[in-house]
Parts: sequence; C-alpha cells; structure tokens
Amino acid sequence: MLEMNQIHCMDCISGMKYLESESINCCVTSPPYWNLRDYKVDEQIGLEENLNLYVQKLVEVFREVRRVLRPDGTLWLNLGDSYSGSWRGMNDTKTSNKGNKASRDVLKKCVIPEGLKEKDLCGVPWRVAFALQNDGWYLRQDIIWAKNNPMPESVRDRCTKSHEYIFLLSKSAHYYFDAEAIAEPVTESTVKRLSQNIELQTGSSRVPRKDNGNMKAVAPRYGGKKYTTNPEVFNRTKSGNAYEFRPMRNKRSVWTVSTQPFKEAHFATYPPKLIEPCILAGCPHGGVVLDPFMGSGTTAMVALQLRRNFIGFELNPDYIEIAKKHRLASVQVRIV
Ligand SMILES: C[S@@+](CC[C@H](N)C(=O)[O-])C[C@H]1O[C@@H](n2cnc3c(N)ncnc32)[C@H](O)[C@@H]1O
Repeated sequence: MLEMNQIHCMDCISGMKYLESESINCCVTSPPYWNLRDYKVDEQIGLEENLNLYVQKLVEVFREVRRVLRPDGTLWLNLGDSYSGSWRGMNDTKTSNKGNKASRDVLKKCVIPEGLKEKDLCGVPWRVAFALQNDGWYLRQDIIWAKNNPMPESVRDRCTKSHEYIFLLSKSAHYYFDAEAIAEPVTESTVKRLSQNIELQTGSSRVPRKDNGNMKAVAPRYGGKKYTTNPEVFNRTKSGNAYEFRPMRNKRSVWTVSTQPFKEAHFATYPPKLIEPCILAGCPHGGVVLDPFMGSGTTAMVALQLRRNFIGFELNPDYIEIAKKHRLASVQVRIV
C-alpha cells in the first residue's frame, strides 16, 4: 500500500496497481496533452507518434483509475486541443522546452492523424472522451474552461483559442455530486423577479391566440396557488413543506478562470481556482482525491486546503521537489 498525502515518483499505471480497488472518491487531473511538450522522462505519456496510440494510452490509464474509484466516484479530466501539423513543444524556444534529441526525433516523426489534413483541429479532448465512454465510463458533462487571458496567437484565419475542456465522467449512473457545495449566486435580475409583487404587475400581451391574460414575470408557484402574496402560503412549497428562499442556482457549465503563471516550472499547471469546484463537488470532507499526473502538485495543494486527502503520481522527480517546496509547503493541514 502507498502512503497517503504523498506524490509518488512512479509511472501512474504501475503506481495505481498498489491502490486498493474502490478506495478513491474522485480523480482530478490534467494528462500531458498530445505532442505539446517533453517532460524529459522515460515512459512519459504524450509523445506517441500517432493520435490513436495516445488515446489508447489514456484509456488504459483511466481504466485503472476506474478500478480504484469507489462505485460513486467521478473523474474530472482537463484536456486541451491542438491543430494537425502545428506541433510545437520541443521546437518552441519561448517555453525553454526544447527537449532532448530522442524526443525531438519522436516529434519529427509525428504524422498528420489519419483522416485529418494539415491545419485540421484534431478534436483530441472529444476523441479521448468518446474512447472513455466506449470503455465503460459515463460521460456526464463537458465543462468549458474559458480563459480571459489566453495565449496570444498570430493567426488571422480563425479566432484565438481561449478555452479548454473539463470532462466530468462517472463510474456509475448515480454518483456523489455535491451540487450545493458549488452553487452560485443567482443574478440580480432573478432576485428582483422573485421578490416582486406579481399581482400588481400589468404584464405584457401574449402571442396571438393565447388569451389567458397578460404575461407576467414568472415567479415560483408555492402553496398550490399560482401567484400569491399571502406570506402564509408563499413560504410553502406545493407539497406544503416550508420553503426557504435561497438566492443560489446550480453551477453553470462554463467556468471563467484566468490562467496563472507558475514561475518554478515550464510546464502546463492548471490554476487552483479551476479545480476547486471539482474537488468540492466530487469529494466529501476527509475523502481521497487522486491525480495520476501531479506535475507541480496543484491537485494535492487544493485537496489539502479543502480538507481532503490526496494521493498522486509523477514521473519527473524534479517536479515532485517543486511541488513540495512551493505548493505543499504552504499548506499545514494533513487529514487522513
Ligand atoms: C500537464 S502536466 C500536469 C500539471 C499539473 N496539473 C499541475 O497543475 O502542475 C502532466 C504531468 O504528467 C507527468 N507524466 C507524464 N507521463 C506520466 C506517467 N506515465 N506517469 C506519471 N506522470 C506522468 C509529466 O511529467 C507532467 O508533469
């Protein structure tokens, strides 16, 4: 068995073999994107010559994740897309990520994926999502991570890419999802609409042939009466139970979160704010969050801050040191 609240320097598939089946509440992770950068370690995922091989490798990783997840567990998977023929990574001097000769050679061999033309959007996130669905996962949602500070691009024949995906996948049809924990405030206009006196409204005309009176701003129906200002019934639901007005709504599926530079490393770290809702909704207090691709340890840090345990894997020992020094040193809490 592996120690909890540690990042283990191992290949994630081999490492997860040491985890008990059905022991993890949720997995929050961002695997290496296909052919984007070289993490300078053997066995790394992401430098496959062929897109299908990359997708297959991720299916294999997440099959093992599914085994270790509890039956009510979820996977929150962050992935970004790329354009066919635009492989940057090792040739991108701006990221100081030139890689070694072997990885440059792999990259050179990268072929345009079968069925695609140069410049085609590869659709990598969706290919992975559908492959996981075929492998038995429930594909429950595509959440859009909208960035208001995306990487500038010099393209003139399409828009600048400013989003990535977070797929919510589950092991079973019914699963742990704490919608309350991530509910968001309703808009001002909704608060106004819900608090107005419906009976005093004139309302506006309905579409032709609808003659059931003017259309008034819709208010919730409580106490079996359609619209009422009587507080005795207003504060009851249709079934007669007490109703408490709560100006919150279900979280929406577009999340606007700015990227945050992380000085210590030249690799893609996700911002802590992006994964807070995943952990809040996907894992109860004291539960365990898994990240098979820990990188700088963002998942570990946020899990501890939110009083959840974590367990993670990372192939590059330098990144584990960075995680310990920068991400984890700031968090005093250790749960278990
Ligand atoms: C996109 S980064 C993760 C970044 C992380 N979410 C963060 O915020 O720092 C992907 C990481 O996966 C690691 N990695 C690649 N192949 C791996 C494997 N087979 N097992 C474990 N880690 C691997 C890479 O070294 C890299 O640090």
